[in-house]
Amino acid sequence: MNLLVIGSGGREHALCWALSASPLVTKLVCAPGNPGIAQVARLAPVNPVDLDAVLKLCRDEHIDFVVIGPEAPLVAGLVDHLEAHGFACFGPSKAAAQLEGSKGFMKDLCAKYGIPTAAYGRFREAAAAEAFIRRQGAPIVVKADGLAAGKGVTVATTLDEALAANTALFAEPGAEVVIEEFLDGEEVSFFALVDGRHALALASAQDHKRVGDGDTGPNTGGMGAYSPAPVLTPALQQEVMDRIILPTVNGMIAEGTPFKGVLFAGLMLTKDGPKLLEYNTRFGDPECQTLMLRLKSDLLPALMASRDGVLKDFDLRWRDEAALCVVMAAEGYPGEPRKDTLIEGLDAAAAETDTVVFHAGTKAGPDGAILANGGRVLGVCGLGKTIGVAQARAYAAVDKIRWPHGFCRRDIGWRAIAREKN
Ligand code: AMP
Ligand code: GLY
Repeated sequence: MNLLVIGSGGREHALCWALSASPLVTKLVCAPGNPGIAQVARLAPVNPVDLDAVLKLCRDEHIDFVVIGPEAPLVAGLVDHLEAHGFACFGPSKAAAQLEGSKGFMKDLCAKYGIPTAAYGRFREAAAAEAFIRRQGAPIVVKADGLAAGKGVTVATTLDEALAANTALFAEPGAEVVIEEFLDGEEVSFFALVDGRHALALASAQDHKRVGDGDTGPNTGGMGAYSPAPVLTPALQQEVMDRIILPTVNGMIAEGTPFKGVLFAGLMLTKDGPKLLEYNTRFGDPECQTLMLRLKSDLLPALMASRDGVLKDFDLRWRDEAALCVVMAAEGYPGEPRKDTLIEGLDAAAAETDTVVFHAGTKAGPDGAILANGGRVLGVCGLGKTIGVAQARAYAAVDKIRWPHGFCRRDIGWRAIAREKN
């Protein structure tokens, strides 16, 4: 089969790495990709949100199946566009991608179908939102409605902070704002494949959103992850499937917008049980890197079964080992990252036992050099019997990389490792 993967991050490198091992694949193209992906796929310089350009690429390359990594092309309707022209895609329609694209849509769905989530109000006027914030008091959470790459959310500990965030969001014309009850607990990610009617549990993972050690500093797209997350016990995982994932799948059918693709639930484990913080309608980055390292089965048939509506009774096999991914970011991230700095030692890092280095924001320089070209630049992953061993392997590989203008957190996995020691 001829396969096209859309995207250019560490997630897409991990997807291409897994898909390139499938005996079903004869040609693998990635648009636009990165130099790491170029080791396993042919790159095509096409912009993922230019729907007609992607369609032309599918025609030129005789593509049989398209796997879409990031949210922007999904929310822009890439699946609808390609499917309408006869190209099979893994991922949700534009209407179903609203689960991620609109927090208001997601919250209304939860309210209608009794899915546990934070209490909320949805506002189009600053004054009404302000009155609601004053009535509820702090702590309280203020969110922009649309996609904001993790930057549209303020978890306010004081009333003043909440009001300031509200004012800032309503400074944008046409703003829509969601105000939420603050949920206390540990955060965990859960992934399931969905085919419209059935859901197949994949795995749990835990991300590290803050830029600094000890979960300090500003939010990022994710500084590291591990899978599985032992805090999500098998009993809790079943509860998440029964009370959150399946009611969502059924609710989306009832709304006339059945969901296909991967459902990524951001959960808060509160004292009243798991509650949904947010949905993403794609794999997490860097969670995907850890999932792909652990997956033993061929990924492609599972993605095709999701698209074809035949996931019922589908079985995937996973390694018993844990995987852990350390993100190396460019100086300045999550602000303005420094670009074009030289990265060396990647081969030595990849040669370490049970490690894989995924590229994200890299570009090819002269004479085969690899240069930084974004905020999150590398995902250095280790596999091990415990999360502690996976962590040691990942950092051993990190220490082989010579990149004076890059940095990483040194404590990825700390919650789970503290538990392992007890
Ligand atoms: P979101 O993009 O909606 O997932 O929000 C980004 C981050 O803000 C989450 O990963 C949580 O750490 C935090 N957050 C969001 N909503 C809440 C909430 N209702 N209570 C506590 N923390 C929240
Ligand atoms: N790592 C979080 C995300 O992909 O949204």
